[in-house]
Amino acid sequence: MNTRLIAARTLVRVLDGGQSLTSALEHTLQALENPKDKAFVQAVCYGVCRYYHRLQFILSQLLDKPIKDAEIYALALVGLYQLAFMRVKMHAAVSETVDATRKKSWAKNLINALLRRYLREQESFELQADLNPSALHSHPKWLISRVENDWGSENAARIFHANNQLPPMMLRVNALQTTRENYLQQLADLEIEAEAVETCPSAIHLIKPVGVTALPNFESGAVSVQDTAAQFAAGLLELRAGQRILDLCAAPAGKTAHILESQPNLDCVAVDIDATRMERVETNLRRLNLSAQLIVGDATQPETWWDGKCFNRILVDAPCSALGVIRRHPDIKLLRRADDLIALPALQAAILKAAWSMLKEGGLLVYATCSILKAENEDQIAQFLAEHADAKEIPFDSNPAKHGWQILTGDDNCDGFYYARLRKVSLAA
Ligand SMILES: C[S@@+](CC[C@H](N)C(=O)[O-])C[C@H]1O[C@@H](n2cnc3c(N)ncnc32)[C@H](O)[C@@H]1O
Repeated sequence: MNTRLIAARTLVRVLDGGQSLTSALEHTLQALENPKDKAFVQAVCYGVCRYYHRLQFILSQLLDKPIKDAEIYALALVGLYQLAFMRVKMHAAVSETVDATRKKSWAKNLINALLRRYLREQESFELQADLNPSALHSHPKWLISRVENDWGSENAARIFHANNQLPPMMLRVNALQTTRENYLQQLADLEIEAEAVETCPSAIHLIKPVGVTALPNFESGAVSVQDTAAQFAAGLLELRAGQRILDLCAAPAGKTAHILESQPNLDCVAVDIDATRMERVETNLRRLNLSAQLIVGDATQPETWWDGKCFNRILVDAPCSALGVIRRHPDIKLLRRADDLIALPALQAAILKAAWSMLKEGGLLVYATCSILKAENEDQIAQFLAEHADAKEIPFDSNPAKHGWQILTGDDNCDGFYYARLRKVSLAA
């Protein structure tokens, strides 16, 4: 089947069906055999999501009236994406996209006409797009306002730019199996170009991404794929042998695994509300030969699963808007609505409050999100500190947040991420 049509149908599942691009593509790619076709469909689908708001604007300029047929609409976006962003042979791209309309002759003429007109007047369409903020940054208007409101227009523009870049592939070296130097050598032996990440002792940047099956000893757990920002969590927990530790929103266990790789002699409990995601925790820990007590439970209701023994360390990697990982999941820009963000801070606050009740005096709680919004991060922590006299923040040296550590997307090539460290102190002291 025509790969443009396959890409368009995948995008319809996201645009109309509200499905995530990851799951829509999983379904699509399973049915494709040729690796080149798979790579092409994947690149087009990610690209259209990444540049959806720009392409949509240009398309609206090219049309007298909107396209009602979802598949043809998506195909028009696929066609424009190829012409505007891909190094493809222009005329082949147009004719393949036109062919993908199949028996719909009205659509054939329409797609042909609009793609050819775009090619003739490309410069002027692109200039017009640059004058529209949503098209310029390729983000929805509400999101532009939220980020500008929190970080100012200059920082916001940097964040939008970073969100639109291809994300780097980062590895976490399993300290129980090898050292970073050793693994870099193994990669070099296979001519896989890579470098150590200066800011994070466990992280390796693969200059050119490869499939995990090409990585030496991946199956036996020598490395995992994880962004640098997420690799800071384990270090911030100040782990010591013999501690009892709770990872409260654990699935799929990227951070649980790193915690156990950093300090295997821990009594580690990993909780998540989602039983399906918990299955991935099992698979991931098994590959790494690590173990923890796994509980499917609601973090806001510890009374339904907790045995009453307090923890020395708690990680709250809270459910969040995930606006810090847009470069990895550009469909977030299409699927997330401003309203979705209303309930999140209350859920995060409820999880934090419940977590605090399970922390030993003198214990440390690390709160993390992959968000860049203050409401989920520094405002959340400010509110928590105001309500908990026995919480003392351990500050970070330099960062743009009033409380905690805000990594803005693209800083040091990281995903957008947030951390705060809270020590439980004695009120009697
Ligand atoms: C950011 S993800 C965790 C990522 C994970 N810590 C890692 O590093 O791989 C947030 C997790 O919170 C879980 N979650 C959401 N609401 C929850 C709740 N009320 N109780 C427990 N887990 C919850 C979600 O199922 C999701 O797996």
